[in-house]
Amino acid sequence: MDETKSPFRKRVAVIPGDGVGKEVIPQAVQVLKAAAAKGRRELAVTEFDWGADRYLRDGTTLPADAPEIFRRDYDAILLGALGDPRVPGNQHGADILMGLRFKLDLYANVRPCVLFDPRLTPLRDRAEKDIRFVVLRENTEGLYVGMGGQFKKGTVDEIAVQEDVNTRKGVERIVRYAFEYARKRGLARVCMSDKSNALAFGHDLWQRVFAEVRRDYPEIEARHLYIDNLMVQMVRDPSQFQVIVTCNMFGDIASDLGAGLIGGLGLAPSGNIHPGQVSMFEPVHGSAPDIAGKNLANPMGAALAASMMCAYLGWNAEAQAIEDAVRAAIREGKTTRDLGGSLGTREVGAWLADRVASA
Ligand SMILES: NC(=O)c1ccc[n+]([C@@H]2O[C@H](COP(=O)([O-])OP(=O)(O)OC[C@H]3O[C@@H](n4cnc5c(N)ncnc54)[C@H](O)[C@@H]3O)[C@@H](O)[C@H]2O)c1
Repeated sequence: MDETKSPFRKRVAVIPGDGVGKEVIPQAVQVLKAAAAKGRRELAVTEFDWGADRYLRDGTTLPADAPEIFRRDYDAILLGALGDPRVPGNQHGADILMGLRFKLDLYANVRPCVLFDPRLTPLRDRAEKDIRFVVLRENTEGLYVGMGGQFKKGTVDEIAVQEDVNTRKGVERIVRYAFEYARKRGLARVCMSDKSNALAFGHDLWQRVFAEVRRDYPEIEARHLYIDNLMVQMVRDPSQFQVIVTCNMFGDIASDLGAGLIGGLGLAPSGNIHPGQVSMFEPVHGSAPDIAGKNLANPMGAALAASMMCAYLGWNAEAQAIEDAVRAAIREGKTTRDLGGSLGTREVGAWLADRVASA
């Protein structure tokens, strides 16, 4: 057997990135190592120093051979965040983050929104069971492909065109991913959201593909909501939703709203997935320059991203152990300030790792 495919030995590439990414990722790695040790798994972690410091030092963003190396030599990637006030255009961030998403064809951005404790939601009278859904965001197309241009830039006659790319293959595979995600987990409902009433070409394609694919999953309730209505419904009654699937930009926004419903960005994880291939896991939040370097950032989103990574690698007990530790930390008030606690990033990370090791 090819030892690289062993369920017991996994190789993980770690890119802490910028700002709070450099604080939360070491904590997530510590928690991940504790989980791997407990399960007697062999974990090889290799760190990559890509980010603003490196870019400003020698111009490196994403080396040309990085996608090939990741595909060949790694099982998964754990990423922090990219963005630094010293790089106003965020060129390095676009190259590294979008580069990896696009070049590794990580087409499913999986963003679970799970309420760990009713005290964390700004909504009134909600129990844990009321907020437990996932936003599946198309991750390789849409408005984020960077197609378009500017004409007469900087003049009063300026024109800016940003193109929205939707391919039949791209839409079909994310819609199918949503139904498969529901089927595998025994979930009853998938909601597709678009703006087909206004975007008569691109989102008409979403409508037709959704109508076609849903026929293969008769046991799953398939619903459609326009994105504006989805925003209202997520706030009014999030218990309606189990799986939400939508395009790149709407998924970006819907998942941040979802994060707001469960306790904020510090607690939200995500996976950038291409089934069967090397995939990338990261907290939803950015580099948070306002709190960076102060030991204030919540490492739970990053730890939960590591948990998602474990599940993806087939380490289900380890994934569960990390999630359980986060839930316990919240219950016991072992949290950073954003969740009402008084601990720092490092202290929460150490608490989670201890809990995983001793559970
Ligand atoms: N995936 C990514 O790498 C990613 C995602 C979003 C933004 N960014 C970049 O990050 C930079 C800052 O962007 P932004 O301010 O819009 O978004 P942000 O997510 O960095 O911060 C938004 C707010 O949430 C808070 N926050 C974020 N993470 C937190 C954590 N772990 N614990 C506690 N509070 C946390 C911040 O303090 C801030 O008030 C920009 O350069 C942006 O381009 C990167």
